[in-house]
Amino acid sequence: MNAANPNESFANEAALQLDASGNLRHLLTLRGLEKALLTDILDDATGYLTESGELPARGRSLAGRTVANLFFEASTRTRASFDLAGHRLGADVLNLDVNTSSRKKGESILDTIYTLEAMQVDIMVVRDASAGVPAFIARHALPHVSILNAGESDVSHPTQGLLDVLTMRQHKGAIDNLTVAIVGDIRHSRVAMSASHALGTLGVGELRLISPPVLAPDPEQVPGATILDNLEEGLKNADVVMALRIQRERIGNLDGIPGIDEYFANYGVSHESMKFAKPDAIVMHPGPMNRGIEIEGSLADGPQSVITQQVTNGVAVRMAVLDRVGKTMAAR
Ligand code: NCD
Repeated sequence: MNAANPNESFANEAALQLDASGNLRHLLTLRGLEKALLTDILDDATGYLTESGELPARGRSLAGRTVANLFFEASTRTRASFDLAGHRLGADVLNLDVNTSSRKKGESILDTIYTLEAMQVDIMVVRDASAGVPAFIARHALPHVSILNAGESDVSHPTQGLLDVLTMRQHKGAIDNLTVAIVGDIRHSRVAMSASHALGTLGVGELRLISPPVLAPDPEQVPGATILDNLEEGLKNADVVMALRIQRERIGNLDGIPGIDEYFANYGVSHESMKFAKPDAIVMHPGPMNRGIEIEGSLADGPQSVITQQVTNGVAVRMAVLDRVGKTMAAR
């Protein structure tokens, strides 16, 4: 599905996202989207935040529209937040049960898409374990239909990247002065990839990617980032520390991957290792968390942690993206 040259495939994908007037039509990757657009989405998302205990923000911009969540890979928070985001903007939301869906019965992915289009679905939110699926669907979708990538293999997870930078911005202000450290299985992490795309465009001070050597990323995938295998060096004076899970489901051969105790001792984000970071550093994790493996449970629950706020921001960011593609559709 991907072109032989990965950069060519990326350029095509980036171009596919905007309509002729430069409005967001699909969200497939953050790579290549302009800083002004990212900032506008973050500003819109901020407008959808209310205080905890207050009623959540609502709108009517998707009234009459239909959103289908097509998750061909497991998800809890991303799927639930797209579901809530669609409902809170007035859309009809269809959640396809992947266990009984036609894809499992061998129907091609395009037949599923054409079936949903025949039911007048306007926006399809897609998560898939294979690289290239969201762009492939976008190339074949009807002209008014929008495709939103909700997690593509180890390639990208754009709404997660947006909610992560929104969380950093809320706590730390301008991104350009920040030192951001991401620790864990960088190699197999679409979360790390989308964070690096967004942070790169927003001009982050320094992005450090820390992992055991076997889980380090390909440097070409993360231009501008510093790749490290030493946690102390990586966390030194960091403003933001994000822990990631080891993506066992995406690793064919587990040889060379440290055992749990060894991993936590060398790469665990803990009270002990956070001493290297700035005293006011924030602690992030996209979830699902493995307490005692990549992150110490009491740190995840402590005052430096912004993990539940990431979840709250996830709904707001997805509302902002849904609203934006809805407006592009209405302007056609
Ligand atoms: C992540 C994902 O699925 O990419 N979770 C999420 O979307 N919040 C990270 C993970 O699976 O570890």
